[in-house]
This record gives sequence, structure tokens and C-alpha cells, in this order.
Amino acid sequence: MKIAILTSGGDSAGMNAVVRSVVKTGILKGCEMWVVREGYEGLVRGNTEYRQATGMDAPTPNDGSIPDGPTPNILSSLRFGDGKLLKDGTGDYLGGRTLKGRYIVRVGWDDVRGWFAEGGTLIGTARSKAFRTPEGRLAAAHNLIREGIEALVVCGGDGSLTGADVFRAEWPKLVAELRSQSIITDAQAEAHAHLKIVGLVGSIDNDMSMTDMTIGAPTALHRICEAIDNINSTAFSHSRAFVLEVMGRHCGWLALLAGVAGGADFIFIPEQPPKGMPWEDEMCAAIQHHRDIGKRKTIVIVAEGAIDIDLNPIKAEYVKDVLSDRLGLDTRVTTLGHTQRGGRPCAWDRILPTLQGVEAIAALLESTPQTPSYMIGIQENKITRVPLMEAVEMTMAVAQAVSDKDFEKAMSLRDPEFSE
Ligand code: F6P
Repeated sequence: MKIAILTSGGDSAGMNAVVRSVVKTGILKGCEMWVVREGYEGLVRGNTEYRQATGMDAPTPNDGSIPDGPTPNILSSLRFGDGKLLKDGTGDYLGGRTLKGRYIVRVGWDDVRGWFAEGGTLIGTARSKAFRTPEGRLAAAHNLIREGIEALVVCGGDGSLTGADVFRAEWPKLVAELRSQSIITDAQAEAHAHLKIVGLVGSIDNDMSMTDMTIGAPTALHRICEAIDNINSTAFSHSRAFVLEVMGRHCGWLALLAGVAGGADFIFIPEQPPKGMPWEDEMCAAIQHHRDIGKRKTIVIVAEGAIDIDLNPIKAEYVKDVLSDRLGLDTRVTTLGHTQRGGRPCAWDRILPTLQGVEAIAALLESTPQTPSYMIGIQENKITRVPLMEAVEMTMAVAQAVSDKDFEKAMSLRDPEFSE
């Protein structure tokens, strides 16, 4: 089987470990492995620019330029050879191969060597507008068929995985369209009647339902904990208050867990806004009590998607003003931003993607036109396969429950055992 992998949406630590695991497992199972650079954007662009510029087909295993089995470096020679990262259209050229205008590239064993320890995603990611259009998806289908690729592994967040499932559902229509325009032959249409897809969840937010953990979330959590430790010492020195804004989009997992791990005094998350009295009173009462019993420092964590009971955003700057004005605390705001997302993956963000990559290849090899696209998850410490669309729908139901102000439902969809 010819399998391609892409990373999509916001990068997360562990995405390279996914690529490594999928590529190596695929090779061990006798598959031919490819990567798509720059996410869905690369799928839409394919290798057309290269073909137009050189008049040559992009090197495929059939032209003899890339030996079968464990292959010599294609990507890593670029990365480690002349210090240039894989960049869109920069004309990197090494070892007789150029990546200029080539987005769908065959890779071998050595290309992904050591990738378990690398942050971000070395094959690039993008939020592609073109892939959201029918023309874009038609071009993407053509590019995959042209390279003979039958299966796609997508690593990304809920939006990226939804895109994958839409693509699979639309596939027969796209193939029929390409055939009717004589862009592909009958034989190609027959050989590519179905597209096999599997998703892995790469996101620091840990916001996907039907899995306990997303790839990159443990590293981001660890980064936040380290930041809190650092802030704690300076906060203690001056007896100050700090308001920390952390990422997570509409999910409070990072904020909540960081607050527990870092000893925060008060935490704001989207799924459970403070209720009862005005939250300002509740927060000030809790923090004043902590001060009264001898605490020299104050840490408040605000998830970037935090809201009050009326769904108004709770902003770190406003929390700071409340602490300064009402409690007279010398208060600073720290927004951790992308330091949470980048950098080397922690051990768990190497192990989880490695195990899930193995399962992803198994799911593809066992896939039939009747089986749904699977998302590879982890539940109660077991690597799982769940129908991708069910997981995406349940994730969207959480967002809906929050915007309906049904916070209990939101929490119980996130955690079926939740009770207040
Ligand atoms: O989904 C991952 C995430 O880091 C969110 O926590 C954050 O809201 C968003 O992406 C930021 O995205 P970017 O800076 O890439 O636009």
C-alpha cells in the first residue's frame, strides 16, 4: 500500500514522532511511505510546479532514483546537510534532489531518524483555504492519484480531522469528476475507487472527545508548569500577584491541570464559569483568605477561552485590575503564548505518538470500503480506534453545550463520570 502522512492545523510537540512512527511502521509492514509537506495546502499543490518547472516527473520509486526499502536521506539531508529547513519553494537542492515545487515526497527510514525528539512539525503545516473549496479538493484528489497514493494519515486537531473525513466521503464524487474530465484514466479511477483515511489527534488543547489525551498536550502542560514555577519565585520575592493567560482555545484542560500542578489560587476555564455571586467577589474572597492565612504570592490562571456565566470573555488584564483595585495587590499579567506550543516533546509526547502511529498503520491495512475512518485515541491507557466522525461530532457538541450555557452537559461530555 502507498500511504502518505500530513500534519495540519496548529503544530504540537510530538507531531514529528507521529511521522517517524507511521513512516517506520509502514516500511516494516511493506508499505511505500510518503509525506505531504505543508498540510492540506501541499495536497492541493502536489508536485505540479516541479513538473512544470523541470518537465520531469517528481522522482518516484519507479524511476530508480529512490531505492526500495530503507532509503537514503531525502528530507533529513536537507535539514542536516546544509542547515536549510524544508521551506516552501526555496529551491533547496541537495543530493541531486530538489524539493522546490514538490509537496508530496516519498520518504525512507533515515529521513525520520531522530524525529521523536524534535519540536513542531518538520514537514510543515498550514491552515489551507484552498482545501476548503471543491476545486482545491479536486486538485488534492488528482495529486494523490497521480502519485498512486491510496491512503492518508492526518495528524491534527478537530478541524483537520473533519477535513479528512469530508475528503473521504467526497472521494467517489471527486474520482468520477476527474474521470469525466479525462484527467485520470479508467484504470486509475478503478484503482483509486476508495481513499483510506486515519486520523491522529495532534493538538496542545486536549480538546478532542473520545480520547483521554491529544499529542502535544502533555508537553504544553509541562511548559506551563515550568513557567508557573519560575513565576512563583519572583512572585514570592515581591509578594506579588500574577495573572497567567494560557492557551487551549475553547478548552480549559491546560488551565485546569496547570493550576492543579502549579498551586494556583484561582482558575478560569470555559466549561465551568464561576457562578452564584459575581465572580469578582468570589475570586477576591478566595485570594484574600489565602493571604490572610499567610500566602505571600498569588497565581490566577485564565484560559484564553474563559467566559463568565453570561458567556462574556474573562480577560487577564481585567482580572489584574480587579486584584489591584480591590485587594491592593501589586499584580502583573504574563501571557505564555507560543512558548507553550514549541520546543522538544516530553517523554509522553514521544511514547503516545509512537504507539498510535503503529495502530494507525494497522487500521489502514485492515481498512475496507465499509469500515469508517478511524481516529486513533487512548482511553484508560489503551490505544483505541474510534470512528473519526463520532469523535468530531462529540467535540462539537461540547462547544454547543457551552454556547447554550449548559455547562454541566459540557463537562459531562468531556468526562462522562463528571458530577458537580
Ligand atoms: O489549537 C492550538 C492553539 O495553540 C490554541 O491553543 C490557540 O488558541 C491557537 O492554536 C493559536 O493558534 P495560532 O497562533 O497558530 O493562530
